[in-house]
Amino acid sequence: MVFWFNSDRERGRVFAEAFARELPDLPLVMDISEHDPDEILYILTWTAPADLHRFRNLKVVFSIGAGVDQFKSEFLPREVMLVRMVEDGIIRMMQEYVTLAVLALHRKLKAYVGQQADAVWLSLPVRQAAQQRVGILGLGTLAGAVIERLKPFGFPLAAWSRSERQVKGVDCYHGPDGLTPFLARTDILVCLLPLTQETEGLLDAGLFETLPAGAALVHVGRGAQLDHDALIAALDAGHLSGAIIDVTEPEPLPPERGFWRHPKIILTPHIASVTQPETAARAVIDNIKRHRDGLDPIGLVDRERGY
Ligand code: GLV
Repeated sequence: MVFWFNSDRERGRVFAEAFARELPDLPLVMDISEHDPDEILYILTWTAPADLHRFRNLKVVFSIGAGVDQFKSEFLPREVMLVRMVEDGIIRMMQEYVTLAVLALHRKLKAYVGQQADAVWLSLPVRQAAQQRVGILGLGTLAGAVIERLKPFGFPLAAWSRSERQVKGVDCYHGPDGLTPFLARTDILVCLLPLTQETEGLLDAGLFETLPAGAALVHVGRGAQLDHDALIAALDAGHLSGAIIDVTEPEPLPPERGFWRHPKIILTPHIASVTQPETAARAVIDNIKRHRDGLDPIGLVDRERGY
């Protein structure tokens, strides 16, 4: 029985070393052309190969990324577990990026970069952190970790999740009824939601209108959650003050699209958080050990919910 590493070879080498050390009885293979499909027990991949049903002994598909929306469920037999990547590297990078983005919006970095280009020496009004209400859409592992990183700055923190959750020091809202009051108290909105049918197109004109005047957006969820025209309209009307966007639909974003040159947008090419091979290998090995012990892997996806 083998583990098929279906991703880039560079990261594969790091995984192979860790597997040889920790799971010597489970060979990691990057090329399965020499293997009988029945030998494949686990796959690590970004998307499900369309011919997945031919691996009759497949038990677990590990996503190389935190998101699993790219897996089309029709290709994935019900009895195969799907596991999203929960590993320290992704978590740490997301904490860094969201902290960077929230602070950049809080301290008006984009406006100062613009002023520098015009040799303008001018201080802009600044709120204190206690007056800057940050709200996180989503309360999964990444959102929870981001919240802990933001706490020491003193921003009033709130979070919205689909089902009810409690987090110490955070105003928690949930469900469709909780969304409007959550948005109405949020000056910097951070989207960390997974892409599902319910979250597709969620960041639209109506949502932006519900935010208070001058609010700003950090988008690190998935591109298909955001209506580009609605964001540009809200920024141009002066209702929103800025946006930091890391995910777009499509990716890469074509050069003619408005986000690239918008004076109130900072755009990065889906780099907020990237799976780190050393820590990811650790997480996958631990999950294989859990699976062997009859425990659910960490990050097991609820196929109905979609995350
Ligand atoms: C990146 O977006 C990921 O899903 O890890």
